[in-house]
Amino acid sequence: MWFGMVSLFPEVFKALSDYGVTGRAVDRGVIELDYFNPRDFALDKQHTVDDKPYGGGPGMLMKVQPMRDAINAARQVRELSRVVYLSPCGQRLDQEELKKLAEFDDLILVSGRYEGVDERLLKQEVDLEISIGDYVISGGELAAMVLVDGLTRLLPGVVGDKESVERDSFFHGLLDYPQYTRPAEIKEYAEAGDVPPVLLSGNHLEIARWRHKQALGKTYERRPDLLTQYNPGEKEKKLLEEYLEEKSLN
Ligand SMILES: C[S@@+](CC[C@H](N)C(=O)[O-])C[C@H]1O[C@@H](n2cnc3c(N)ncnc32)[C@H](O)[C@@H]1O
Repeated sequence: MWFGMVSLFPEVFKALSDYGVTGRAVDRGVIELDYFNPRDFALDKQHTVDDKPYGGGPGMLMKVQPMRDAINAARQVRELSRVVYLSPCGQRLDQEELKKLAEFDDLILVSGRYEGVDERLLKQEVDLEISIGDYVISGGELAAMVLVDGLTRLLPGVVGDKESVERDSFFHGLLDYPQYTRPAEIKEYAEAGDVPPVLLSGNHLEIARWRHKQALGKTYERRPDLLTQYNPGEKEKKLLEEYLEEKSLN
């Protein structure tokens, strides 16, 4: 998957290209990041990319021309790319939206700075606005990195075990179940409880049942909105009842 990153600070994307899952995906050519800095397209000697907002008020806005020319330079590399602007005013990102976006071969991701971007650029050049949550951060780069990382995990062969992505929170609509690793006992953590014996039993059917029950229970407790959307079947409702009974006994 190809990403055209339109940003005033392309160097910050090293966090993506040089580390971990996304870094390996770059090395193996599963994802490709190309950079288009609007400052390189500014026409004056000072490479100006921002100006005061009409109507007054604090802060500066990113001007149309350098942004448009940077987006067009990206389009010259991948003509049919969709253009996504990272914005708190956009559609809130979730796993379902990630799955849809992962179907594209290429995306141009536009990161804003300052107070944002001239509205005419958004109307004319942008296909989709995406928000990473109901809060404001100082620039679109971190949001673009969240998007690229989330998408990269969904691409075939990136995360070694496909099952591990599909078991993650949200993939099938539930939160992840609790997980444990060695050692089986940690004296100082007695209050946090033991590793549930079923996980040490080697009985894979029982382990799968326990995990599904925990995922239903955790989602019920922490994100009832997700559970309503998930719409559990009869067997799952029984599992959830079992979970609640066990909880009240503890
Ligand atoms: C300081 S913000 C501008 C916020 C803008 N004045 C507003 O209130 O909607 C600068 C840039 O950060 C990015 N940004 C901030 N919060 C974001 C969020 N929740 N999701 C995606 N991008 C965000 C956008 O690209 C934005 O242009």
